[in-house]
Amino acid sequence: MKRKIYSILLTGGLLLSTVVMLSLTSCNKTGPAGAAGRDGANGADGVSTTEACKACHNPAMVDQKAEEYTMAKHSWGTAAFTESGNNSCAPCHSQEGFRYVCDPANGVSAAWTYAGGVWTNGYATVDGHNMGTYGCQTCHTALHTTYGASDLTVFTNTAPVAMTMWGGAKTIDLQQDGAKSNLCIKCHQPRPLQCNVSPTSGGRLLNYDSIRQFPTLIFYDSTTGAVNKYVKPSYRMHTHYGAVGAIYAGKGAIEFTGTLAYGNSAHTSVASCQDCHMAPMTGRAGGHSFNMRNAYESSLSASTTWNFNGCNVAACHGDDPLSATHAKFVNCRSGIKTLLDQLATKINACGGGHDILTKQTDPTLNLWAGITTNSYDGYLDIYSSSTNATGYWRDPYGSGATNAAKPKFPKLTFGQMGSIMNFQLCLREYSLGVHNHDYVEALLTNSIAVLTAQGF
Ligand code: HEC
Ligand code: HEC
Ligand code: HEC
Ligand code: HEC
Ligand code: HEC
Repeated sequence: MKRKIYSILLTGGLLLSTVVMLSLTSCNKTGPAGAAGRDGANGADGVSTTEACKACHNPAMVDQKAEEYTMAKHSWGTAAFTESGNNSCAPCHSQEGFRYVCDPANGVSAAWTYAGGVWTNGYATVDGHNMGTYGCQTCHTALHTTYGASDLTVFTNTAPVAMTMWGGAKTIDLQQDGAKSNLCIKCHQPRPLQCNVSPTSGGRLLNYDSIRQFPTLIFYDSTTGAVNKYVKPSYRMHTHYGAVGAIYAGKGAIEFTGTLAYGNSAHTSVASCQDCHMAPMTGRAGGHSFNMRNAYESSLSASTTWNFNGCNVAACHGDDPLSATHAKFVNCRSGIKTLLDQLATKINACGGGHDILTKQTDPTLNLWAGITTNSYDGYLDIYSSSTNATGYWRDPYGSGATNAAKPKFPKLTFGQMGSIMNFQLCLREYSLGVHNHDYVEALLTNSIAVLTAQGF
């Protein structure tokens, strides 16, 4: 744990006394100088500069928040180091990259551009702005500009978030609580799925709407050769981890037509990320730890000590306070878990006896260990010498004898592809429906129906 030592080297209050100068009235004829007038009253004390500092630099403010922050994965997580220097990862994985993409002056857009046969994702930072672990200034962008307390309430982003997953075609804008959720969602949003197989190797954005509209079309088929024009099935064929933002706002998935309509739960429009994740602390959960449970990462999914302080305020669940055993909380989570388990079974059925989804019960290797009964992580069990050496299925575009000896990966319809994406998003929103129960329930239910209709 590292602590910053403050050396506030300001001298104590600077007393600014005002000297009142007396002006003497003069006559036409200059006579002898009169007696000196009385001294003026002392001027008001000047403002001590350290007083302004104390608005933040006191035990209950910066000092305490900095301690809480040591519990946050923002602080101890390693992704900011490992992805440092990479312009496409840095917008979400480094302080400077984030500040760069949030500053309107830099004109960073989520749109894709096409030139010379290649599609480029505009959501990127530039050299010189792609490093820095997260700290206070990642979110509090104006610290030490006016040196007044108001610097704390200026956040790096509260503007609507053009979603990178959709190339900017969809925008999330949660206005409640001063639009502070937009700060979190700017990073906690999914990355795009890029087509990476010839003849579309120029890498355009996958057309999610086609997947939604035409579930029976073939997405990939190993029996007919390389017919996949879209995304190469591989161990890590997925929308990158920030599922929460999209699910919370009800705007990120493949909304297959089905029996359940796509509504949002009340949280989407009345609660902010801060309301729950930065609620008054219980143990090490809440505040600037951003955690919902009083547990360390590796025992997170087993812990039952939740922080309900944010939930049980008068305006929300105060009249019928939630707890870890309250039916509302228990049923929400168990219902979604059941649906996730059912969808996983349907997705796996296409393997004809061998699962296509990987499982990992070790929470240090799988962020989502324990969320489903089989501890899926959302990846596909396709062989990769570097990332999934024990993979069961053949990498359709891989080479080498080890790969060639593996069974061919089964074919996928658009419906299966969309269901896999929905499974990944609903698994990785992590809260088992607390973020947006109605949306998650509809996605899972309708995906299950699509796969059932296809015989799985
Ligand atoms: C709006 C709140 C706020 C005000 C007002 C404020 N500071 Fe800070 N200051 C912070 C925060 C937040 C940090 C970073 C703490 C950390 O990283 O743990 C910080 C850090 C520091 C540090 C450590 C070095 C650094 O930059 O990380 C010094 C020194 C410091 N402040 C001095 C001052 C002085 C002197 C004043 C008044 C003239 C002042 N601050 C006013 C919030 C404030
Ligand atoms: C600059 C981008 C960025 C911003 C802004 C941001 N986060 Fe994060 N957050 C991340 C990343 C990246 C991780 C994972 C860090 C790692 O693994 O090293 C993370 C981790 C977390 C975790 C822990 C997840 C886990 O797997 O244990 C929580 C909870 C969280 N963030 C909530 C929030 C909330 C709430 C906000 C808004 C107040 C917020 N984040 C703002 C990027 C961000
Ligand atoms: C649009 C924002 C965004 C971009 C761009 C992005 N990530 Fe992430 N990434 C996240 C978030 C948010 C998390 C944390 C999710 C959580 O813990 O719930 C994350 C998590 C990760 C993790 C897992 C960390 C852990 O705790 O296990 C790795 C590894 C990672 N990202 C690598 C990358 C790489 C490599 C790139 C660039 C090729 C990249 N990311 C680009 C948002 C992003
Ligand atoms: C991931 C974003 C994020 C990071 C990183 C972050 N903060 Fe904050 N901070 C917030 C948000 C959002 C609020 C407003 C919370 C609210 O409205 O409930 C806040 C509020 C505060 C407050 C005011 C609390 C109050 O009671 O009024 C202080 C003080 C503060 N932060 C200090 C810090 C310090 C010190 C650090 C670094 C050690 C830090 N913050 C890092 C997002 C962040
Ligand atoms: C209604 C309360 C609530 C709101 C609002 C909320 N969350 Fe959560 N969030 C949860 C719960 C509960 C979990 C599950 C935590 C756990 O299992 O430890 C969770 C989990 C997470 C995780 C994974 C956490 C982890 O520790 O691994 C991230 C990241 C996250 N939320 C980010 C956000 C963001 C970003 C927002 C705003 C868009 C948000 N949450 C809004 C309740 C909430």
